[in-house]
Amino acid sequence: MKSEDYNKLIGDSIKAQKEWKKFPAPARGQMIRQFGNKLREHLVSLGKGVTRESRKILVEGIGEVQEVIDMCDFAVGLSRQLYGKTMPSERTNHRLQEIWNPLGVVGVITAFNFPVAPWGWNFCLAIVCGNSVVWKPSPKTMKVSYQCKNIWDETVDKYCVKEHKQDQYNLLQIVDGHETEAIWMAKDTRINLLSATGSCEMGKTLAPLVSARLGKGLYELGGNNAMIVSQYANLDLAVRAIVFSAVGTCGQRCTTLRRLIIHESIYDTLLERLKKSYVSLPVGDPIKRENLVGPLINKEALYKMQNVLVRCKEKGYKIYGGAPLTDLGDSYVRPAIVEAPTQCTLVQQETFAPILYAMKYKTLNEAIEIHNDVPQGLSSCIFTNNVQEAETFISATGSDCGIVNINIGPSGAEIGGAFGGEKDTGGGRESGSDSWQQYMRRSTVTTNYGKDLPLAQGIVFDA
Ligand code: UN1
Repeated sequence: MKSEDYNKLIGDSIKAQKEWKKFPAPARGQMIRQFGNKLREHLVSLGKGVTRESRKILVEGIGEVQEVIDMCDFAVGLSRQLYGKTMPSERTNHRLQEIWNPLGVVGVITAFNFPVAPWGWNFCLAIVCGNSVVWKPSPKTMKVSYQCKNIWDETVDKYCVKEHKQDQYNLLQIVDGHETEAIWMAKDTRINLLSATGSCEMGKTLAPLVSARLGKGLYELGGNNAMIVSQYANLDLAVRAIVFSAVGTCGQRCTTLRRLIIHESIYDTLLERLKKSYVSLPVGDPIKRENLVGPLINKEALYKMQNVLVRCKEKGYKIYGGAPLTDLGDSYVRPAIVEAPTQCTLVQQETFAPILYAMKYKTLNEAIEIHNDVPQGLSSCIFTNNVQEAETFISATGSDCGIVNINIGPSGAEIGGAFGGEKDTGGGRESGSDSWQQYMRRSTVTTNYGKDLPLAQGIVFDA
């Protein structure tokens, strides 16, 4: 993108936001309500768009659009609940309260693996909170991004307040670019919040640029998510959760299950069941209903996966599956399970592919130690019917991740909770709960309705 086009786009975004912030939040919510209705009309075509470019299977493509629709519903309700607290003032006849106001322009950077859902989390919140959005999608998924933009424009066409039509189109603008444009956005003081989803490397490049200008950043980066399977687990449930979380989206979710920490007493049984399930997994064209695993995003991703498997082999690890399925196309692969005797650096890194490392443990403490001993901290889970184990896992001595599940796999979160994680995952929270607060600025307001001017901390200052 040319820099003058980028500058015009930001200028238009600022102008659009100046008008938009004047609307009451519930009126802004009504626009998102209509947008959600339009998305419902386009659910399947948009889902197909997601599948075409990100190459995930169609049910997942449609599920991702559903995630944006759910987010619209959430944001509509939220538009009447942007609550500020009122605190008791220590001074007589004073009121102390918080007021939330819009931030301005929100920059959103998203990745190929989830081309619409993380954008939806950000967009819906940003809009009801009174901001405009400048969206830089992954260059691999531009078409579906423009599909979303068209649906927004259709909504504006039908429901906007007439005199501000152009500004309302401009509440969503798309930056068609690569790393250079992402860096422009990170350095741009006109962007009041930069919300970036992608790899830890991407976050580590952009975050210092945002910090250098004392800007606000919100990062949802890589994960190296694990499941502890205890001797008290329901193995039927665990097997289903493992397979969905480890091979769904061909192992290319930030929430993908990458490490399996299994109690030694059930290790062989569980591994046998998984191996059986893996060999019969239908891999193929993601648009066809019978397939559960589509291809990796491209040849490079396949190459990276194969490279990691070669290194595992050199270490003498046992590998099941993982062979490229060249007769299907150039980036199809059978998902792999690797038995890792220890959690080496290979296991600690996130390989964005369907490789599931299996490890053994004896005590729950040992399992939690292995669990937390990775740089990332996104999602985690334990399968157990033992209440002490489950409570320990969610306690201060348990998982150090942002998402902590019991008897559910680490992927496939609902929008209602805050989504994100700790450590190299970046610390940001998007989507539900009180994540909206990041898209607004908080004003602490003290009002004196008395006839005197008492000072806080009892200071007497009689000039
Ligand atoms: C991502 O991979 O960046 O929890 C997002 C999940 C989805 C979102 C994944 N709801 O797996």
